[in-house]
Amino acid sequence: MLIPEPVYNIEKSYDDNYRDGPVFHGRIPASMPSTRPVSFLGITANSRLGIPAGPLLNSDWIGFYATMGFDLLVYKTVRTHAHPSYPPPNCLYVSVSGDLTPTSLSTPLIGTPRMEPASMRDITITNSFGMPSQAPAVWQEDVSRARKKIGPGQVLIVSVVGTEREGESIAENFARAAKMAKESGAQAVEVNFSCPNVKGTEGQIFQDPETAGKVAKTVRRELGPDYPLIVKVGYIGSDAEADRLLREIGPHINAIAAINTLSATVINPEGRPALPGPGRERSGVCGNAIRKAALEVVSRLSGRISSMKIPLSVIGVGGLMTVEDYDLFLASGADFAMTATGAMWDPYLAFHQKQQNLR
Ligand SMILES: Cc1cc2nc3c(=O)[nH]c(=O)nc-3n(C[C@H](O)[C@H](O)[C@H](O)COP(=O)(O)O)c2cc1C
Repeated sequence: MLIPEPVYNIEKSYDDNYRDGPVFHGRIPASMPSTRPVSFLGITANSRLGIPAGPLLNSDWIGFYATMGFDLLVYKTVRTHAHPSYPPPNCLYVSVSGDLTPTSLSTPLIGTPRMEPASMRDITITNSFGMPSQAPAVWQEDVSRARKKIGPGQVLIVSVVGTEREGESIAENFARAAKMAKESGAQAVEVNFSCPNVKGTEGQIFQDPETAGKVAKTVRRELGPDYPLIVKVGYIGSDAEADRLLREIGPHINAIAAINTLSATVINPEGRPALPGPGRERSGVCGNAIRKAALEVVSRLSGRISSMKIPLSVIGVGGLMTVEDYDLFLASGADFAMTATGAMWDPYLAFHQKQQNLR
């Protein structure tokens, strides 16, 4: 086997990984290759490479990946209330040949807990957690701890999600979560709009521009005019769809992060649901096979943003598995790039990207 085990143990539960991870038996680089500082939404950062909401479950994970040279670190999505994770498995390998598109995903994929990937190109997974969150008292204290664990030129972003609660609209709940994250020491907040839309139309919030706009406006009001605010979206298949969304959210935010996973039905080799239980009929596919779809969305968003003359940065996410993929994201119009699956299997990715940058 050429690729070592991931630092996130996919055979264990979210709680196990929260408590015991990251598990890493390699060597921590003694020092990072020097880089030219960049501005990340007004904050000085060592590089344009980071990790999106996902593998960074808490301050131990943030601290580890900061040490490995990832400079833009997104704390996994949290809520205004405690919420349990789906039981394990939460991640499975999926066998895919070639690139996935939303259309090709109408046929089920086969998921398995074990595989011996020979290269980063073999790693496509599905993840299904149900957006767990510790209670605010726990995550807020931990976010403050995470802030102390990062170094100069590293940025701590906290991803939040809102739901409709008793006496509170979805926008108000998002805003309250964002405020809690800011108060705990987050330097930027990301609102996760690639989550199910509990209000109005079917689908996810980013597919409902009117709700997305209302939420973004309410969160902006809560955070104040100068605080960095990012919106995370899923696959956007047309310029018209991008324009409608950008028109509504653009005036309120500083950056758009794309994409979240592509949604698929995943079955086991016997043909039964690979992730049993309600709400898991479909799950998110990430890693190598979604890069083409991610690059397409990045290129679309960056093109539409410049035509519409909105001052928004684009954060490219999805299938970034190697240093070459990082270059592809920047060439497609991303201002910054992030890797979740890639960083889980190759924690040296940022170090290698920085080494390459020196040449
Ligand atoms: C283990 C894992 C957990 C994730 N959890 C979240 C999450 O809590 N919030 C979120 O917005 N995205 C989450 N994601 C999606 C990632 O942020 C990212 O959009 C997606 O995985 C595509 O990037 P990748 O191909 O580099 O993995 C998660 C991804 C993984 C692999």
